[in-house]
Amino acid sequence: MSVAAWWSDLRVIASMMRGLPSQGSASSQLATFYGPQAADYDRFRERLLHGRAEMIAALDLAAGQHVVEFGAGTGCNVERFRDQLEGLRQVDLVDLCAPLLEQAQRRLGSHPAVHLHHADATTWQPATPADRIYFSYALSMIPPWFAAIDNAEHALADDGLIGVVDFQVAPRGGSPGGFRQGRLSRHLWPLWFDHDGVRLSADLLPYLCHRFEPVRVEEHLGAVPWMAGLRVPYFVFVGRKRRVEP
Ligand SMILES: C[S@@+](CC[C@H](N)C(=O)[O-])C[C@H]1O[C@@H](n2cnc3c(N)ncnc32)[C@H](O)[C@@H]1O
Repeated sequence: MSVAAWWSDLRVIASMMRGLPSQGSASSQLATFYGPQAADYDRFRERLLHGRAEMIAALDLAAGQHVVEFGAGTGCNVERFRDQLEGLRQVDLVDLCAPLLEQAQRRLGSHPAVHLHHADATTWQPATPADRIYFSYALSMIPPWFAAIDNAEHALADDGLIGVVDFQVAPRGGSPGGFRQGRLSRHLWPLWFDHDGVRLSADLLPYLCHRFEPVRVEEHLGAVPWMAGLRVPYFVFVGRKRRVEP
């Protein structure tokens, strides 16, 4: 690792050690936490936030579609479908953190199809229903995550798909998919992440499976930078809107 890369990691780790402030509005808490690490965000998270490319690939993006990412941060996930960007009708990137949106503005601001919104994922709605909606490690940072999921369901076109990738904690006794976690791991990861405002929940995946018809559900363990040998649980979910019986 080069000296520059080492300093970059150090800046991120210092921000993580300071943690997410507990005072102020959600927007100002996020700005204080992410501001000092905004330029280093992508490099570090590439090694921590696993399964993002797989979730986006499973969304089967196609020309003419309207795509929304809630909690889009620096807009780095758009790189995963950059070669399809020209054909998409519209891409809305929604986030409550101004310093991360500035990075997204630098990356994508000049693209005519991409629109950045400094807004709350629990309330922001597109002008027309979206064909594809996804959350990438955002729901675990949104305390009323159930409200964000309900809001996304409302924004999704009837034949649309929703994708979510996020950390999780296995329910006691294991998840319906068979994923099990030791007692120590079930307690330590939530404690470790909570300092940075990331709340691991055993209810997130079950709620998604309840709210949407699952198309794909996977549960995995991912490596954590600088913590050799330790692996944190995450899931990939893709679902479609449930049909309301007439
Ligand atoms: C761990 S980052 C993930 C960013 C990006 N999706 C990625 O995959 O790199 C979580 C993001 O959720 C955003 N966020 C947290 N609460 C939010 C809210 N209520 N509304 C919109 N975005 C929010 C944060 O600002 C941050 O950009």
